[in-house]
Amino acid sequence: MSTQNNTLSSNINLAHQDIISVNQFDTDLLDYLFNRAEEMRHIVETVGGNDWLSHRVLTCLFYEPSTRTSSSFIAAMNRLGGRVIPITQGVQFSSVSKGESLADTIRTLEQYSDVVVLRHDKVGAAQRAADYADIPIINAGDGAGEHPTQALLDLFTIREELGTLDGLRIAMVGDLRYGRTVHSLTKLLLHYDVSLRFVSPELLRLPLTVMNQVIDAGIDVRETHDVADVIDNADVLYMTRIQRERFSDLAQYEEVKGHHELTPELMTQAKEKMTVMHPFPRVGEIHYGIDHDPRAAYFRQIKNGMYIRMALLASVLGK
Ligand code: NCD
Repeated sequence: MSTQNNTLSSNINLAHQDIISVNQFDTDLLDYLFNRAEEMRHIVETVGGNDWLSHRVLTCLFYEPSTRTSSSFIAAMNRLGGRVIPITQGVQFSSVSKGESLADTIRTLEQYSDVVVLRHDKVGAAQRAADYADIPIINAGDGAGEHPTQALLDLFTIREELGTLDGLRIAMVGDLRYGRTVHSLTKLLLHYDVSLRFVSPELLRLPLTVMNQVIDAGIDVRETHDVADVIDNADVLYMTRIQRERFSDLAQYEEVKGHHELTPELMTQAKEKMTVMHPFPRVGEIHYGIDHDPRAAYFRQIKNGMYIRMALLASVLGK
């Protein structure tokens, strides 16, 4: 199926739709999805799950490593009574290692499944898969491109933690060039009245294509190299990992790695009501000493990922 560039919410109906890019979402659809995620939280907290997706099959097809995205989709499917074909433990054990094309792999897996969640190392792979497939494809990250379901759970988390999405000062820190979660979240935030601060080494600044969208949206935006410049004003500090696997020259990675670490000392400069987020994995960007600070939202953020993915799977499968 192919839905790119269509905003889906004309009738707030995600049934049978692909989820490829955050560009598909407007505020009505975001509100709908967040309300459904709240409903999923209630179901999980009260009875653990239900059977809305019984006899439905999800294939998780992951060409890149994953812990949270794959297991939260599996948990989401299980909690709604569905089943999963998990190709997440190394696509090298599938026929991909024999040279099978993405087209054939997708056209095969759709014979068994009702929906495919795809993570791939190439920008645009999810859209290509959606063009080949007749069942919904959900993009779980396409190279340095987008990671729409992560951005949805990130936005949901900001709303849960701070009670609003408007009037916030949001700082994104780290690898803004290759970090697909940053690209997707930034685009979603353009729907709201926010100011944005981008903190990165020079080499890892936000891509111009995304920055131009921020500027065109008339958002108050600034770039800096140092988290200390923004921490006192921030309502949200969105930390990210340097994406080592995206560097063609590892010497460049060595130059920028360890560029930023959020420490308990730095946190003393932050507001009392603010939230620290990270898509994880963290590899040194957030000191473990912060984990019990009430402002550290990253484990709650991880749990929210399951609720958002339950909401997405139920919606896409017409429930
Ligand atoms: C992110 C990803 O894969 O883009 N992880 C995730 O899905 N939570 C972030 C990262 O790998 O740094």
